[in-house]
Amino acid sequence: MMEKMVNIFLFGKRYEVPENLTIMTAMEYAGYQLVRGCGCRNGFCGACATIYRIKGDNELKACLACQTTVQDNMYIATLPFFPLVKQVYDINEIPVNESVMMQLYPEIYACVGCNACTKSCTQGLNVMQYIAYAQRGDFEKCAEESFDCVMCGVCSSRCPAGISHPQVAMLARRINGKYLAPGCGHLEDRVKEIRNGDFNDLIEALMQKPVEELKELYNTREIEK
Ligand code: FES
Repeated sequence: MMEKMVNIFLFGKRYEVPENLTIMTAMEYAGYQLVRGCGCRNGFCGACATIYRIKGDNELKACLACQTTVQDNMYIATLPFFPLVKQVYDINEIPVNESVMMQLYPEIYACVGCNACTKSCTQGLNVMQYIAYAQRGDFEKCAEESFDCVMCGVCSSRCPAGISHPQVAMLARRINGKYLAPGCGHLEDRVKEIRNGDFNDLIEALMQKPVEELKELYNTREIEK
C-alpha cells in the first residue's frame, strides 16, 4: 500500500514526506543530516526544541521534534540551541533563602505574568507557577513543579522579561536536593564506594563490551523493588 504523504515546510522550503514520521525523522527523510538539535531521540534530552505553525492557524506551537508527528502544511523551524543565562555559583556557599534568587536570577522578579512560558512548554509544565515559587523562595515546590523540565529553552525564547526558567529551576532543584529533601543513606554509601574505586574494574570491563551485549545486560539487569 502507498504511504500517505503530507507537505511540510522546513525553514520555508517545501518537502513531501510520509505522514507517520516525526519532525525529526521527516527532516532526515528530506535529506538533513542532524548534527545539532538531536540527542536522545526519546524526549528526554531537550536538544530538539522546535516551533511550528499550521497554515491558516495563527497560533505558534512549540514541541520536541523527536516526539511530534508531522502534519500537512506544517511550517517548521528548529531551535537547536537557545542561549540561557547560566550563573556560576558554589552550592556550598549560597544562602538557602529567596535572597539567592535575587542575587543570581533577579530577572525573575520582572515577570509580567504573560504566561507565554507555560503556553510554550514542550513538557506541559506550569512554568510561570514554578517561577512564582522560586520568587518566594519555595524551592521544594519549584523543584517538584519543574521536575520534568528537559531544558529545551523554548520558555525562555518566549519570555519578554528575559528569564532563563530552566536554569532557575535547576538551582531550586539543587538547593532542594542538597539542603531540603531528606538524605538518602544508601546513595551516599554508593558514592563513597565509587570514589573509593570499588567499581573501577567492573566499569573497565563494561567499557570493553560491544554495544549489543551492553544493551542485553541493561535490559536484563536486576531492578531494586
Ligand atoms: S532528541 Fe532528545 S528530546 Fe528530542
